[in-house]
Amino acid sequence: MEISQALESAINEQIGIELAASNAYLSMAAYFECNAYDGFSQWMQLQCEEERAHAMKFYQYLIDRGGVVRLPAVDAPEWDFDSVLKVFESSLEQEREVTKHIYGLYKIAQDESDFATVSFLKWFVDEQVEEEKVVTDMIDKLKMAGDRSDSLLLLDRYALEQRAEASGG
Ligand SMILES: [Fe+2]
Ligand SMILES: [Fe+2]
Repeated sequence: MEISQALESAINEQIGIELAASNAYLSMAAYFECNAYDGFSQWMQLQCEEERAHAMKFYQYLIDRGGVVRLPAVDAPEWDFDSVLKVFESSLEQEREVTKHIYGLYKIAQDESDFATVSFLKWFVDEQVEEEKVVTDMIDKLKMAGDRSDSLLLLDRYALEQRAEASGG
């Protein structure tokens, strides 16, 4: 079954959303690195790579289904943040937006009875649950730390350990 025009353009839009997310995380990584938070920077760099991998999954899927990849324009990401907490809050907001878009795609696929796409999207639905959970946990910890620099440095260290585990190193 050939992929529909509607799904093709929605998936192209999704590739743009994942690439925009990847850029946003790179921008957050740079902010942290400039402010000597190496752990948080590593965390965001890994997120950046993950989002690019997501974009590539959609890219490959679209090609495998005989669709045409047409990359949309990507807006410049935010680069100036007020605090560590603000960055992670922005990350959560972004993940929630992505989740909404994944659900939108899922709905189109379901309405069209394109079960291959429904099946393909399931991985992303689960992934978003994990993404939102991990960021929410960090936000909770950052709220406990407040603006105490000793606590923030401990969390920076913790972020580094978490990411090392996540990337298998
Ligand atoms: Fe993603
Ligand atoms: Fe994500």
